Amino acid sequence: MAKSPYPNLILLLLLLLRFPFSSSTIPLGSVLYASGSNQSWSSPNFTFSVSFLPSSSPNSFLAAVSFAGKIPTWSTGSVDSRGSLRLSSSGSLRLTNGSNATVWDSGTDGLGVVLASIEDSGNLRLLDNQSNPVWSSFDHPTDTIVQLQNFTAGKVLRSGNYSFQLERRGNLTLKWNNSTTYWSQGLNSSFSSNLSSPSLALQTNGVVLMFDSTLSGGTETIYSDDYGEGSNTFRFLKLDDDGNLRIYSSASRNSGPLSPHWSALANQCLVYGYCGNFGICSYNDTTPVCLCPSRNFDLVDVSDRRKGCKRKVELNDCSGNATMLDLGNTRLVADSSDPNSEVFFAGSSPCRSNCLVSTTCLASVSLSDGSGNCWQKQRGSFFTGYQSSSVPSTSYVKVCGPVLPNQPLVGTKGDGNNSKVHLWIVAVALVGGLLGLALVCGGAAAETIQSLELCRLTTLCLSNTEAILDKRLGEDQTVDMEQVKRMVQTSFWCTQEQPLQRPTMGKVVQMIEGITAINKPPRPKTLNEVSFSGSSGSTSHASILVASGPTRSSSSSATRSFQTMGITSSSTKIGQGSLLGS
Ligand SMILES: *[C@@H]1O[C@H](CO)[C@@H](O)[C@H](O)[C@H]1NC(C)=O
Ligand SMILES: *[C@@H]1O[C@H](CO)[C@@H](O)[C@H](O)[C@H]1NC(C)=O
Ligand SMILES: *[C@@H]1O[C@H](CO)[C@@H](O)[C@H](O)[C@H]1NC(C)=O
Ligand SMILES: *[C@@H]1O[C@H](CO)[C@@H](O)[C@H](O)[C@H]1NC(C)=O
Ligand SMILES: *[C@@H]1O[C@H](CO)[C@@H](O)[C@H](O)[C@H]1NC(C)=O
Ligand SMILES: *[C@@H]1O[C@H](CO)[C@@H](O)[C@H](O)[C@H]1NC(C)=O
Ligand SMILES: *[C@@H]1O[C@H](CO)[C@@H](O)[C@H](O)[C@H]1NC(C)=O
Ligand SMILES: *[C@@H]1O[C@H](CO)[C@@H](O)[C@H](O)[C@H]1NC(C)=O
Ligand SMILES: *[C@@H]1O[C@H](CO)[C@@H](O)[C@H](O)[C@H]1NC(C)=O
Ligand SMILES: *[C@@H]1O[C@H](CO)[C@@H](O)[C@H](O)[C@H]1NC(C)=O
Ligand SMILES: *[C@@H]1O[C@H](CO)[C@@H](O)[C@H](O)[C@H]1NC(C)=O
Ligand SMILES: *[C@@H]1O[C@H](CO)[C@@H](O)[C@H](O)[C@H]1NC(C)=O
Repeated sequence: MAKSPYPNLILLLLLLLRFPFSSSTIPLGSVLYASGSNQSWSSPNFTFSVSFLPSSSPNSFLAAVSFAGKIPTWSTGSVDSRGSLRLSSSGSLRLTNGSNATVWDSGTDGLGVVLASIEDSGNLRLLDNQSNPVWSSFDHPTDTIVQLQNFTAGKVLRSGNYSFQLERRGNLTLKWNNSTTYWSQGLNSSFSSNLSSPSLALQTNGVVLMFDSTLSGGTETIYSDDYGEGSNTFRFLKLDDDGNLRIYSSASRNSGPLSPHWSALANQCLVYGYCGNFGICSYNDTTPVCLCPSRNFDLVDVSDRRKGCKRKVELNDCSGNATMLDLGNTRLVADSSDPNSEVFFAGSSPCRSNCLVSTTCLASVSLSDGSGNCWQKQRGSFFTGYQSSSVPSTSYVKVCGPVLPNQPLVGTKGDGNNSKVHLWIVAVALVGGLLGLALVCGGAAAETIQSLELCRLTTLCLSNTEAILDKRLGEDQTVDMEQVKRMVQTSFWCTQEQPLQRPTMGKVVQMIEGITAINKPPRPKTLNEVSFSGSSGSTSHASILVASGPTRSSSSSATRSFQTMGITSSSTKIGQGSLLGS
């Protein structure tokens, strides 16, 4: 076997031929030290680097691939200041702590790894002498997917007890403790039934596309609210430690403070277990806060309210003295797969009293959502809840008497003045009306006239908010224009042609209340996408396209999204090209 005098050079050339992203090579035996200030392995244009970053706990350092040397996009774990990251001569990448104990290992010993490379895409690879990747950080994501990273079914993002996955059927899911699904977004069942091996990638324009051999060119699943903006923007999708999945954008290199441009759950309180066991999530103005159900409970950790609550007196220690704590506007969150919970028909008083007399019942919820259902949770299980004036349910928690209710929250939303209440009625009427029309519109493709009517109404509504209000409200009423804008933007979400994209009624209420941010509604589908979704849907697609023509100029962001439609209509093709290029 003849040895080339320039093995690395040849390998580098091979690499350049194989991958469109240029990469820097890291020879075997290279090492980074946690204490070694400013040590890093950087990609050719310094967009990404491998280095140690200060971690959240003191005197500990995170071995990570990071963007702009600041934002970790892949990491292996934290070590003390005497730790190191080494590419061993046997071909493994290994993180060891100050006692030389292995904290993490790529597991590639003896697999023929001859060098590592870090690409401008953010991918860290271990390559063999044929330049085949033996291991890559993109195949082993931690809590982040960077733009153009291929996230396939079977891979998992993890953060604390939370995980994000792309299911084989095409659903995007967020789970708690590997079992409780608290968010799921899927494709139309007509697509999902014949998916073979779906994958997902965040495009540089801020649109998340799903790919599969059965989906020609990919299908759009998520739009960040700044999609199509900023040519020099770096984007990533991250599962945060609060259990929410978000899209972040950063101006290249000089990354300022990052702000999310999409969140899976607009209402943070709906993240399962966000407030820990016995914790109740509520909003203090616009900030989610974790509370205990009553003063019969204490916080487990006063410095971290998310750790949950514990009883001051255990139920076992108050025989015969147990009583029910009544929590209005509170829904204890149920996990339908939890064997410790059951649902049955009962009004609120039997729902409460059944739990009180049952020795195994821990808490019950009178859903009050029109279903007539009572939900009961058995002792020994985890429970977590959500409290808001928009929640119709009442929850009952068994405690040792006497009941010590909480003080009301300062600055809670919803105790508004009269004009707010009045506006509410208008809001519900308007949104309800549009929602009704949307159902008609989506339901029967033959009703082209009705959908045209809907679209004309929506367009009119957008460009003419003030005029609409004049008709509905007396002249003496003062109106919060911001709230009205929220209303109209919300109505746009309600009229989404895709049922999955329409918000739930609870979310609608939150959007109007201003508790949750309203993202820019997705652009309407274009005709070439329509042909792929089947002929029955095409009339309503087309009518929206037509109706968007005469939109008058307005500062509303919802209007803007309509107007950018023409610019972004080829995003599917652009996205596909750049991803397939890799
Ligand atoms: C490390 O880099 C920072 C900023 O780039 C610089 O201020 C600092 O002096 C450097 N430290 C060392 C030891 O080179
Ligand atoms: C290194 O890790 C080992 C095993 O986890 C642990 O016992 C040891 O205390 C750690 N050493 C340091 C300095 O953190
Ligand atoms: C650390 O452990 C490896 C094997 O696990 C050994 O080869 C190496 O010599 C050790 N380094 C030190 C500084 O003890
Ligand atoms: C690459 O490595 C394999 C074994 O891992 C070896 O058989 C082969 O000869 C090597 N090829 C070159 C070009 O070095
Ligand atoms: C570095 O390279 C990547 C991939 O080619 C490119 O997207 C990015 O804009 C480049 N960054 C700079 C600062 O040149
Ligand atoms: C993503 O990766 C999978 C598995 O490696 C591959 O089959 C698929 O074609 C890739 N998708 C894209 C869009 O590159
Ligand atoms: C995960 O959940 C358990 C309760 O099931 C809790 O004790 C633990 O602190 C949680 N871990 C994290 C990292 O939040
Ligand atoms: C988390 O899941 C494990 C099994 O995977 C289960 O044993 C444990 O009880 C669960 N934790 C909670 C708090 O439900
Ligand atoms: C979920 O499962 C994975 C793999 O089985 C495991 O590593 C992880 O610790 C589990 N997480 C929780 C919260 O139980
Ligand atoms: C997929 O998501 C849809 C809603 O988007 C939901 O109705 C369906 O039950 C989900 N499927 C699974 C297997 O989670
Ligand atoms: C709610 O907000 C007010 C004012 O911002 C603050 O004083 C109070 O401590 C907050 N309450 C909780 C429980 O965080
Ligand atoms: C039972 O409840 C009453 C008030 O409801 C209280 O005064 C008494 O101390 C409680 N007894 C026990 C054993 O907790």
